[in-house]
Amino acid sequence: MVRSLLVANWKMYKTVAESQAFVQEWLERRAKTDRAAEQVICPTLPALYVLAQALRGRDIRVGAQTLDLGREGANTGAVSGYLLREAGASYVIVGHSERRRLYGEDDAVVRDQAVAALECGLKPIICVGESRAERELGRTDAVILHQVQSVIQALNDLADTVFAYEPVWAIGTGLVPTAEEADRVAGVIQDALVRAYPNSGGTVRILYGGSVNRQTVREFAAAPRLDGALVGGASLDVEHWIALNQGWMEVRG
Ligand code: 13P
Repeated sequence: MVRSLLVANWKMYKTVAESQAFVQEWLERRAKTDRAAEQVICPTLPALYVLAQALRGRDIRVGAQTLDLGREGANTGAVSGYLLREAGASYVIVGHSERRRLYGEDDAVVRDQAVAALECGLKPIICVGESRAERELGRTDAVILHQVQSVIQALNDLADTVFAYEPVWAIGTGLVPTAEEADRVAGVIQDALVRAYPNSGGTVRILYGGSVNRQTVREFAAAPRLDGALVGGASLDVEHWIALNQGWMEVRG
């Protein structure tokens, strides 16, 4: 059975000190109920190395929220996958709608980022999702397929990749699709993966993201084609994050 994966995307929240305090409290409190999915924390960049050190030897990974292409070079402000890997990251989010919208990371960039991540040993969490307008026009499946295919065409295989269905209209809004709808879209993604890679496509983990919290998590956990969640706001509070993990595991553990 595929192991569930719960990913905390802290976006541009938490100082280094706040990130350390979260992890310390989390480790103390979760020890009592240590029946967990695979868990990944994606902190701000300044906190990444410190958290990776704090979590060494634990069953918790650290991820980055994006990466720049290349290895090293005269690229002011850029952080390559190699640097992230060396700093302790195991995963990296690519194609998040906030990166697509705020930083112009289009399908071609997302594709190159996924390739670059795999080349340096990072597991890309590849985000796809339709906007509200696209949904209202009935274009959800077409948008998802286009985003998925544009990435997988460039890969040699799907081992170490994760996909996340994040409808743009559900991020940070408190709105969520029904679990049936999220499961259906996960099926659209899975079918595309299996068509391209008949042997491995069915084993790739597909997450749901967008307003997941301790209440909604159980519904998504009951969706058979979802293997985990990518969580923003509700991952920032230790108690909430622990409850969310427990909620998922009660349904899927
Ligand atoms: P929220 O959980 O805050 O809606 O954010 C979702 C998200 O963007 C995770 O990557």
